[in-house]
Amino acid sequence: MTTAFTVKSQTVLRSQICGWRGSAETIAFVPTMGALHAGHISLITKAKKHASKVVASIYVNETQFAEGEDLDTYPRDHKRDCEMLRAAGCDLVYIPEKMYDPYHSTTVNVGGPALGLETNHRAHFFGGVALIVTKLLNRVQPDIAVFGEKDYQQLLTIRRLTADLDIPVRILAAPIMREKDGLAMSSRNRYFDEESRKIAGQLNVIMRQCAEEIASGADINTATDKATIKIIKAGFDNVDYVAAADTNSLELLTGHLNNCRGRLLIAAHCKGVRLIDNCQIG
Ligand code: PAF
Repeated sequence: MTTAFTVKSQTVLRSQICGWRGSAETIAFVPTMGALHAGHISLITKAKKHASKVVASIYVNETQFAEGEDLDTYPRDHKRDCEMLRAAGCDLVYIPEKMYDPYHSTTVNVGGPALGLETNHRAHFFGGVALIVTKLLNRVQPDIAVFGEKDYQQLLTIRRLTADLDIPVRILAAPIMREKDGLAMSSRNRYFDEESRKIAGQLNVIMRQCAEEIASGADINTATDKATIKIIKAGFDNVDYVAAADTNSLELLTGHLNNCRGRLLIAAHCKGVRLIDNCQIG
């Protein structure tokens, strides 16, 4: 059977996956919302190392956007995205023609690592992500799925979700890809003009300084408050959070790091663009 590189129908996707399963292929999956950059390509590269076939999806998922966010203007360029995916060695791109039935009534309510941080500012977000990821995993039925550490809370939430709901997939994490000045790659970086892009580049510098201070024994609240002030002074509009959390549970850390394994997580707005970033402490 010859294989189309892009597939829109769930039936065709299923039959392709079944064919591969019949030939003892293993399948890795990389879900995306398109507007691809080198960060996404690194997920495909990682996926290729762990399976014989790589499926990517492109779907701008309405349920993870709140009113007033950029759902309508989110960059969409399937032709360019598919070219990049083909060049990266992806085997199949699933671009679902339909994800939600008009009578869709089911929600996926995630707790644990989904609580706090992003959820304090985007209450709808992880419910929307959990729903689409569950649906995509059910449709693709991969052996492994790869998610970026850039969305660290999302990664832990999906790990929890798949473990709790017995979804038979192994979740792999891929490290954050950064621009030359250290800005974490993101599809939304294209919204910046020259001046705001320079300001945005300060976020990772301040984040690393803060992580180093905490690792060297500084009080966590003092260090994160200092980082918040520096972010505003650098020209950001406002800061949603600068927080140190346990690497696995994402429970917030206070006082001194001691022997905990910590992750520093940041969300801040730069000239109307919301940026998130994170790094290991120590
Ligand atoms: O990280 C993303 O791009 C999205 O949240 C995901 C996982 C593709 C779900 O829409």
